[in-house]
Amino acid sequence: MTILDLAPVVPVVVIDDVETAVPLARALVAGGLPVIEVTLRTPCALDAIGRIAAEVPDAVIGAGTVRSPADVRACVEAGARFLVSPGGTPGLVDAMLDSGVPFLAGAATASEVMALAERGLTELKFFPAGPAGGVAYLKALAGPIPEVRFCPTGGIRLETAPEYLALPNVGCVGGTWLTPADALASGDYARIEKLASEAAALRS
Ligand code: 3PG
Repeated sequence: MTILDLAPVVPVVVIDDVETAVPLARALVAGGLPVIEVTLRTPCALDAIGRIAAEVPDAVIGAGTVRSPADVRACVEAGARFLVSPGGTPGLVDAMLDSGVPFLAGAATASEVMALAERGLTELKFFPAGPAGGVAYLKALAGPIPEVRFCPTGGIRLETAPEYLALPNVGCVGGTWLTPADALASGDYARIEKLASEAAALRS
C-alpha cells in the first residue's frame, strides 16, 4: 500500500472520547476520506484505533504521533494499518521497518530527509509543514532530492492544501481541520462529513 496515494487528505484526529471514534470514522469515510490517522495523544487512542479497525471496514485506520518502538508494537496490536511519526530517530525507524506495516517517518530538513532516504525510505511526513517552510521549502527539496515524496502536515487548511497538492513531491496532505473539537464534542458528524467531502474534492 502506498499511503500517499490513497486519498488527497489524511485527517489527523485527536480523540478524547472513545465513543466518538466509530461515528467519526464513518463520517470521514462517507465524505470520501477513508485514510484516517488517530494520534496517540489521548489515553483512549489505542482503543479508538481498535474500534475503528473492527467496526469501520472501509476505513484505512492508522496511528499518528508514534514516537517509540513500544508505540509501534502497541499500534500494530491495536489494528493500525499504517504508522505516522513526527520524526525519524534510528530506533523508531528500526521498529517501524520490523513491524512490516507501511509508515511515514517525519522530517523537516534536507539532512533529515537524506538520512531517511539512506535507509531506503522514499515516502515521508514533512512536519511541521508550515513552520518548517511550507510550499517553498518542499519545492526547494524537490531539486536535490526528487525521489522522496511527502505528506506535509502542520498548519495546513482547506484553503492552503491545493498549493501543496500541486507539488510533484507531495502525494497527500494531513491536518486536523476536518475534525474540529467542538464538532466532535457536540456529535456534529454531518459537519465532519461535509468538511471531508470538501477535502476529498481537492483531487478527483
Ligand atoms: C500533526 O499532528 O500531524 C499536526 O500537528 C497537525 O497539524 P494541524 O493541527 O495544524 O493540522
